[in-house]
Amino acid sequence: MEIVRNISLKPYNTFGIDVTAEFFLEVTNEQMLPAITGDSSLPLQRCVLGGGSNILLTKPVTGLLLHNRLRGVEVIREDENHVWVKVCSGEVWHDFVMFAISKGWSGIENLALIPGTVGASPMQNIGAYGVEVKDTIESVSFWHWEENRFITYSNTDCDFGYRDSIFKHELKDKVFITAVVYRLNKTPNFNTSYGAISQELEKMGVTDITIRAIADAVIAIRSSKLPDPKEIGNSGSFFKNPTISNALFDALKEQYPDIPSYPVSDSMVKVPAGWLIEQCGWKGKREGDAGVHAKQALVLVNYGAATGAEIWNLSGEVLTSVKNKFGIDLEREVQIW
Ligand code: EPU
Repeated sequence: MEIVRNISLKPYNTFGIDVTAEFFLEVTNEQMLPAITGDSSLPLQRCVLGGGSNILLTKPVTGLLLHNRLRGVEVIREDENHVWVKVCSGEVWHDFVMFAISKGWSGIENLALIPGTVGASPMQNIGAYGVEVKDTIESVSFWHWEENRFITYSNTDCDFGYRDSIFKHELKDKVFITAVVYRLNKTPNFNTSYGAISQELEKMGVTDITIRAIADAVIAIRSSKLPDPKEIGNSGSFFKNPTISNALFDALKEQYPDIPSYPVSDSMVKVPAGWLIEQCGWKGKREGDAGVHAKQALVLVNYGAATGAEIWNLSGEVLTSVKNKFGIDLEREVQIW
């Protein structure tokens, strides 16, 4: 196994933060995982890096950093209506979405252009434009470092929630996700409920909706609002959209009649964090090379040489001002290393 020492992680995280990893290893096949567990010369502390699109690196990574390079896509089952596709976790998510579209398989077209790897999709239950990936996941397979074996969890075992799963809690740092099985539809079930999608389709002059047209609309919306990590470092939404009680929402609505919201249950509503942050005056603000994106206040950006600590500090200031103005505690969505 080829361990690289003290490598810069700048090309491996979409925030473009320049810190080093002490021990770096590319995992190119599943059988390396039992071998790593059994090799006592390797550091016991391990972490897994996929596309590096949902992390903020605030300090050098000590221990063994495993870069997921497991590749492969395979149809494992098919019936009249569905296809079950097993995808290795190191595949690029967007490439898989485009592959599914080329085959006419529907279910994930609304999730086009989300950065990162297939392995991250169950981890944070990626979602966009009215769709969450959990609705297509059949099972998730992983290597368990302590149990020393490969395990497969069904959808319900994964405890999926909004940008959440068991892999962020009980199984955090305990497993290496190796593959995900998605169940996709042969007959499309279009999801155009999210306002921006129907508007974009209309703008594009689409009358005959297809899964490709939906993906094109999603790509157009995302490209217009979200910064391209190749141009400006970022990790997508930095915060989660908070869920608040109806009582707090009603009080806020009196003071801020324009406050947007989405019902979550009879007693709770979700409020867009981007709106709250914008109201606090942060949109487009910059402190050195750390900033709040000018087109979407939910996204923090690195204009070049920001450190992870500088982005972290900025996120803390944003949290404090939202708390002071609205009494709402925002939660960071991005994983902090
Ligand atoms: N808004 C503002 N100001 C802003 C940003 C948003 O007022 O600076 C308002 C918009 O006017 C709109 C509402 O907030 O009324 C929602 O905005 P948007 O449709 O852009 O979605 P979001 O809630 O900000 C979430 C996801 C995104 C996902 C979009 C579309 C989270 C944390 N973020 O953002 O996911 O693409 O919906 O479905 O749930 C990601 O997770 O990295 C991500 C980009």
